[in-house]
Amino acid sequence: MKKLRDTWGSRIGIIMAVAGSAIGLGNFLRFPAKAAANGGGAFLIPYLISFLLLGLPLMWIEWTLGRFGGGFGHGTAPGIFHSIWEKNRFIRYFGVIGIFGPIVILAYYTFIESWTLGYSFFALTGQLAGLKDQVALQGFLSGYQGLSTGGPFNGLGWAYLFFTATFAINMFVVYHGIKGGIERLCQWALPLLFGCALILLIRVLLLGTPDPTKPDWNIMNGLGYLWNPDFSALLSGKVWLEAAGQVFFTLSVGIGVILTYASYLKKGDDVALSGLTAASTNEMTEVILGGTIIIPAAFVFFGPNDIQTIAQGGIFNLGFVTMPMILNQLPWAIFFTFLWFFLLFLAGVTSSVSLAQPAIAFLEDEFNIDRKRAVGIFAAATFVLCQPAIFFLKNGVVDELDFWGGTFFLVIFGLIEVILFAWVLGMNNAWDEVHKGADMRIPRIYKFIIKYITPTFLFAILGTWLVQEWIPIILMKNVTDTNRPYALATRIGLIAVFGILALLVRIAWRRKNTEGGRS
Ligand code: ALA
Repeated sequence: MKKLRDTWGSRIGIIMAVAGSAIGLGNFLRFPAKAAANGGGAFLIPYLISFLLLGLPLMWIEWTLGRFGGGFGHGTAPGIFHSIWEKNRFIRYFGVIGIFGPIVILAYYTFIESWTLGYSFFALTGQLAGLKDQVALQGFLSGYQGLSTGGPFNGLGWAYLFFTATFAINMFVVYHGIKGGIERLCQWALPLLFGCALILLIRVLLLGTPDPTKPDWNIMNGLGYLWNPDFSALLSGKVWLEAAGQVFFTLSVGIGVILTYASYLKKGDDVALSGLTAASTNEMTEVILGGTIIIPAAFVFFGPNDIQTIAQGGIFNLGFVTMPMILNQLPWAIFFTFLWFFLLFLAGVTSSVSLAQPAIAFLEDEFNIDRKRAVGIFAAATFVLCQPAIFFLKNGVVDELDFWGGTFFLVIFGLIEVILFAWVLGMNNAWDEVHKGADMRIPRIYKFIIKYITPTFLFAILGTWLVQEWIPIILMKNVTDTNRPYALATRIGLIAVFGILALLVRIAWRRKNTEGGRS
C-alpha cells in the first residue's frame, strides 16, 4: 500500500524552503565575482533579461509541474514527466536528470560548504585573525584543502572533519522530513542569514578610506565599480551565457529540486504568488546584499587596478582569501570574519538539503521505502560520491562536476521542462494549472513568453555553446595534461551514476506495471 506523502506545515514554510534552496553560495560569491568580471553594471542587463525570460518562467513551471506530479504521488522528474506525457515511454528517462543533477552538485557543494563551517570555527578561535596578508591567507586555504603542507595543517584532517560534520548535519535535517527537517531549518536559518548579511552590509557601507593617500578608494567608488555599466560587454556572447547560467544556478531552477519541493504542496495551494515571492527574495538577496558586500569592500582596500584581477581570481579566493583579509584589518575582526563564514554556511546548508531531497523522494515514492531507510541508503551512496571532490580537488574534479551538474544539464533540463509544460501539457491547460488556487494572475504576456521566447532563448544558449565550446570541451582542450585522466574518470563516473539511476527508473516502472498500479 502507498504511504501518505509528507507535506509542508505552512505556506511561508515552503516559500522559505524554496528561497533557502535558491539563496546559497551563488548569491554571495558567484554573483559578485561574475558581475565584476563581466562588465560591472552591464552584466545586470543580460542578467535581468535572463531572469524575466528564463528564471521566473522556470520558477512557475517547476512549482506547477511539481504540484501536478505530487497529486499522482510522484516527487521527482521521472514520475512527474510521466504523469504529464503518459504515452511517451522514454520521457521518464529524461526525468533522470532531475535526480542526477542534484546528486552531482551535492557531490562538490557539500565539501565547499564544509569549508565555511571550518572557517567559522577558525574565525572564532582567532586563528584567522592573525593572517593579515594574501600570502598567509592563501597558504592557510591551500593547507586546509590539503594542497600544501605547512601552517597549522598537515594534510586533509581538519577539512575532512568539517566535511563529515557538514554531511551529517545535512543528513540529520533530511532525516527529519519536509516539515520537521527542511522547513524547520529554513525558518530559523533564513532570518539569521539576513541578520548576518545586514550587519556585514552596514559595516561595509561605513568603511572609510583606509589609505589617506588614496581618497578615491572609497565605498561610493566601490559601489560605482560594480554598478557603472560597461556597455561594450553586451556585445559578448560569453557575457550573455554567464548571465543566464548565473540565473539558473542562483534560482536553483533546471536542477530538479523545486519540482520535488512543490510536489509536497496540496492541490489547491497557490504556486503563482509563492513562486514569485521565492524568486524575488532570492534576487533581492543576490543583487542588494550579495552585490554590496564583497566587491565594494575589496575596492576600498585594493583599488581599481587590482580588483579586476581579484574578481577574476575565482570565487574561492574572493571568499576565503580576499574577504578575511579585508575583515582582519577592521576592529572586531574575529566577530566580522565569523559572521561572514557563518553567513556562507547558512546559505550553503539551506541549499544543500534541497539537493539531497530529490533522490530521497525518488526512493520513497517510486520504491515505497520509508524515509529513514531512504536517507540511510542515500547517505551511504552520496558519502562515497563526495570523495573525489575532496581528494582530487587539485586535479580539476570539482570544475568537471560543476560544468556538467551545475551548468550543462541545467539548461537541458530547463528546456525539457518548458517543452513539456507549454507544448505537451499545452499552454491553455498549463495556464489553467498554474492558476489553480492562485493568489495572483500572472501577466498574460507570459503565456507568449513561456510558449515561444523561453524555449527559443534556451535553444539559442545551447546552440551558441555547441558552436563555441562543444569540441574543446569534449576533447578536454581546456584541461591540463596532468588533469586529463581525472577529468576522464569523472566523466566515466558520471555516466555510471546516470546509468544506475536510469536502471532504477526502469526497475521501478516494471514493478509498478506488474503490480498493475497507476504509474
Ligand atoms: N541556488 C544555490 C546557490 O545559489 C545552489 O548557491
